Amino acid sequence: MDLTPLNKYMMKSVNDSEFQLIKQLIYHQTGIFLNDHKKTMVANRLRNRLNTLGFRSYKRYYDYVTKEPSGRHELSECINCLTTNETFFFRHNEQIEYLIEYLLPQLRNQNKPNQKIRIWSAGCSSGEEPYSIAISLDKKFNQKELDQIEIIASDINKTMIDHAKAGIYSPYALQQMPEYDQNKYFYQNSKNEQYHIIEKIKKRVHFYRHNILDTFHQGLFDVIICRNVFIYFDKKSKEMALQKILPHLRAKGFLIIGFAESLFDQKLHFMYIKPTIYRRLET
Ligand SMILES: C[S@@+](CC[C@H](N)C(=O)[O-])C[C@H]1O[C@@H](n2cnc3c(N)ncnc32)[C@H](O)[C@@H]1O
Repeated sequence: MDLTPLNKYMMKSVNDSEFQLIKQLIYHQTGIFLNDHKKTMVANRLRNRLNTLGFRSYKRYYDYVTKEPSGRHELSECINCLTTNETFFFRHNEQIEYLIEYLLPQLRNQNKPNQKIRIWSAGCSSGEEPYSIAISLDKKFNQKELDQIEIIASDINKTMIDHAKAGIYSPYALQQMPEYDQNKYFYQNSKNEQYHIIEKIKKRVHFYRHNILDTFHQGLFDVIICRNVFIYFDKKSKEMALQKILPHLRAKGFLIIGFAESLFDQKLHFMYIKPTIYRRLET
C-alpha cells in the first residue's frame, strides 16, 4: 500500500502519555472512565479527526482541543467520537412496561390534579429509548391522557441528538419490534432502507444536548430513566452525576437505571423498589 507521509504517521497508535492526557480530558468533561485497555479504541476513533485537521500526533490534537480558542468546538467532536452509543427500540422492554403499568398509576395518585407527569430520558443516545416510551404510551392512553405526559430526552453527543431529532433508523434499531408496530409507527422511503418515525410520536419527545455533569434547565421530573450510562463512569463520576440528577427528581419520583448498574451506595436518597428501579425518598 502506498501511504503518504501523513497517513503513514497516522497508522501509529497513541502512546501512553498521550492516552493519559486524553483519558483525563474525557473523564473531567463527561465522567466517562476509559480503562487502559481502551487505548486502541481511542486511537482508532480519533484517527479520523487527526487526519481531517492535519495533526501528526495525538499530543498536537490534545493541545489544539485544550489550549487553542479555535479548538473549543473540536472538544465536542472529540467527545462525540469517544462515547459509546449502543441502543435500540424496546431494549429491556420490561422496564418500560413496568413504568407504564405500575409507576405511572402511582404518580397519577400522588400528583396534583392536572399536574403533568414528566419523564426524562438522560443519556438517550439516538432516541430509541424515549421514542419507545412514547410508542408504549400511545398504545395505552387516549389523546387527553397523553397530553398529561411530557417526555424530555438528552445526551452529551450532538451527533446522536441530531440523529434522534431526525428520527430515521436502520433495520437494526427496530430488531425487537413486532412488524405490526413497525408498520404502525414508522414509514419507509421509496428505497425501503430506512425507517422514519411518524410525526405523531416524534413530536411527543423533546431532545436536548446536555451533559449530566451539568445542571439541566428543564425543571422537575417524576421519572428519570438513565440506563447504560453509569457503566462507563467510575464511582466518583457516578456520584457527581447523581448529585446533579437528584435535584431534578421530585420526592417520591422514580429513577430507572440499567441492569449492569446499581444504586446500593445511595441509600440516603433512594429506596430500592426492584432491580434497576429506585424511588427518591421524601427528604
Ligand atoms: C450506551 S448509550 C445508552 C442509551 C440508552 N439509554 C439505552 O440504554 O439504550 C450511553 C449514552 O450515554 C451518553 N453519555 C455518556 N456520558 C454522558 C454525559 N456525561 N452526559 C450525557 N450523556 C452521556 C452517551 O453519549 C451515550 O449515548
